[in-house]
Parts: sequence; C-alpha cells; structure tokens
Amino acid sequence: MRTKAKTITARQLHDTLSKIKVGGAACHYSLKKCGELTPIINEINQLKQNQNAIILAHSYVAPDIIYGVADFVGDSYGLSKDALSTSAEKIIFAAVRFMGETAQILNPHKEVLIPATDPGCTLADAITDEEVRRLRKEYPDYAFVCYVNTTAEVKAECDVCVTSANIYHIIEKMPNKKIYFLPDKLMGQNLIDEMKERGINKEIAFYKGTCVVHEEFTKEEVLHIRSEYPDVKVVSHPECKPEVCEISDYVGSTSQMLKYMRTADGDRFLMFTECGLSSRMEVEFAGKEFVGSCRLCKYMKSNTLSDILRVLKNPTDKDRVLLDENIRKRALTSLEAMFAYTK
Ligand code: 13P
Ligand code: SF4
Repeated sequence: MRTKAKTITARQLHDTLSKIKVGGAACHYSLKKCGELTPIINEINQLKQNQNAIILAHSYVAPDIIYGVADFVGDSYGLSKDALSTSAEKIIFAAVRFMGETAQILNPHKEVLIPATDPGCTLADAITDEEVRRLRKEYPDYAFVCYVNTTAEVKAECDVCVTSANIYHIIEKMPNKKIYFLPDKLMGQNLIDEMKERGINKEIAFYKGTCVVHEEFTKEEVLHIRSEYPDVKVVSHPECKPEVCEISDYVGSTSQMLKYMRTADGDRFLMFTECGLSSRMEVEFAGKEFVGSCRLCKYMKSNTLSDILRVLKNPTDKDRVLLDENIRKRALTSLEAMFAYTK
C-alpha cells in the first residue's frame, strides 16, 4: 500500500524562507511565490515516496529545494556517504555533475540522476584526464592528489582524492614528500601556506584552475566591511585567495563553516562562500547577522524544483550519470584512498 507523503502549506514554507535576506531576487520568497512552489514540492515528495527515491542537495542550491524536498543537505563528501547509507534505489542529486558522479562511483547499483540544466563547475571543467596523464610524465616522482571537484575520468588518473574538509589532514599524513595537487591553484597555494604553518616539509606543485565564485572575493572587501563593523567575523572557503584566507577568522569547507557557526562567538559574520550557504545560516542561526554580499554559483542554481519533478516523472539518459565501469573502478580507488586516510 502506498502511504501519503507529508504535505507542506505555502504559509509554512514562507515562515522558513522569509528569513532569507541574502542572495537578491533569486533567494527572495514572497507568500505568493511560496504558493506557486508548494504544489510542486508536495508532488515531488509523494513521487519520491512512491519510487523509493531520495533527494540529496548541496548547501549551494536554492533554499526551496533545501527546505522543501531534500532528504539530506550537506557538502559533496558527506552527501555521497549519505547516499551509501540509505536503502533508496534512486538518488536525485541536486548539485553539479562531479558530485553526482561521486555518488555513482560509490553507489554503482543505484540510479543517480542530476536535475541541473547546467551542472558544470569551473574547477571540474579546468582539467581533463589527458592533461593529468601528460602532467604525470612531467612530474614522474610526485603523488597526484585531486580535489573532489573533478570528473570521474580525472579521479581515475590520480592516487588520492581530497575534499576541502580533509585536504590538510590527508596531505600531512601522506608519506610522499612530493605532491601534485589539482585543479585549484588558490587551494594549492593555501595548502602550501598551511603545511608551512604546521611545520610539514613537502614539495607541492599545483594546477591552474579556479572557482569562478570564490576567486571573486577580495581582501579589500574584508578591510572595507571590517572598517564598518569592527566586530565582524570573516568566514572563508579554502577556494578563496590566500590573501583573503590569511586575514579571515575562520577558513573551512561548507560543512566545517556550519559547524564553526554552532559555537562561534559574536553576532555578525561575513561569509565568503556561495549564497546558498549564507541563506542556510540565516534560516538556521536566528539572531546572527550576515553582512556584505555573497556570490551565486550559476551551476548550482541551475537546479530547480520543476526539473527535479521532471526527472522523477520522465528521466532521460541526459539526466542519468552513466560511467564506464573501468573508469568508475579506478576513480573508486582514489576515493577509497581518501577514506583510508580519514579513518
Ligand atoms: P564543499 O565540499 O565545501 O561543500 O565545497 C564544494 C564546492 O563546490 C565549493 O565551491
Ligand atoms: Fe564549482 Fe565554484 Fe560552483 Fe563550487 S561554487 S560548484 S567550485 S563553480
């Protein structure tokens, strides 16, 4: 027998989403807009139940997805592990392609669907597997470490995968002295700075990619906001420039930022990350004030409730993550190496 999924009213949705001030028009929810969204949300939640499907959502996607239909919300690493722990047969991954691929690498027997219409990422798109093979010839005695923001093909060519939450811990633990990190040059420089601070002696080379969202945040912006609000705490993602990270009060992955906020002193924060996370902070940390501007990732924001509904009703091969089995197995090796280092 099919049970009826819990439904939400426009008023309930509005009570949650009206707390959001950051992100401009894209993240502004009037009662009228909530009234238009709730029938879609309720239909998605019923279909999810009928199809034994779950929805994973990265913190950067629109708040109506996070608070309306998501079963798990988090960072790319945590979400893929969440996918492993459920009995759902179908995973709708509201994020970008490399995250859906990671979930598929770890869950080969589940169907993974990506509803985004533009699921790119300037980091994942910065380097190809062919380029990694060329670099391995140029740096023959280096261990190749890839950021999770890479394609399955690139992961398959690397030794270890890392996320923004575990990169420093893993590089410190690795026995190799020579490390080639790809594809983010800003994270690469932050990695060098952090290893120096920890007194770890490694030779680190890195590739030239950047995140189009995080590279935009500037030191001048920090100084300007601090002159206006001397008590402000600056919280940055390690994809930001080293000069920004250096003067931030806290630097961490999206999940680490949320953890930091739970115990952080102070009432006023400047978040240097995508607006989705800043919106979550506004909803989940009432009483704290978020100043300055956040930035939108057009790839993450190409996920919509309508497209989630569409892939539940009529999925096509374009929405499915389809990986070559040989590549999947080789990419899995780099993810398993990451799990071994973080055990
Ligand atoms: P997290 O792994 O910290 O969630 O970051 C993913 C990402 O794309 C950051 O821009
Ligand atoms: Fe990629 Fe940057 Fe968007 Fe994250 S915020 S998905 S790194 S483009």
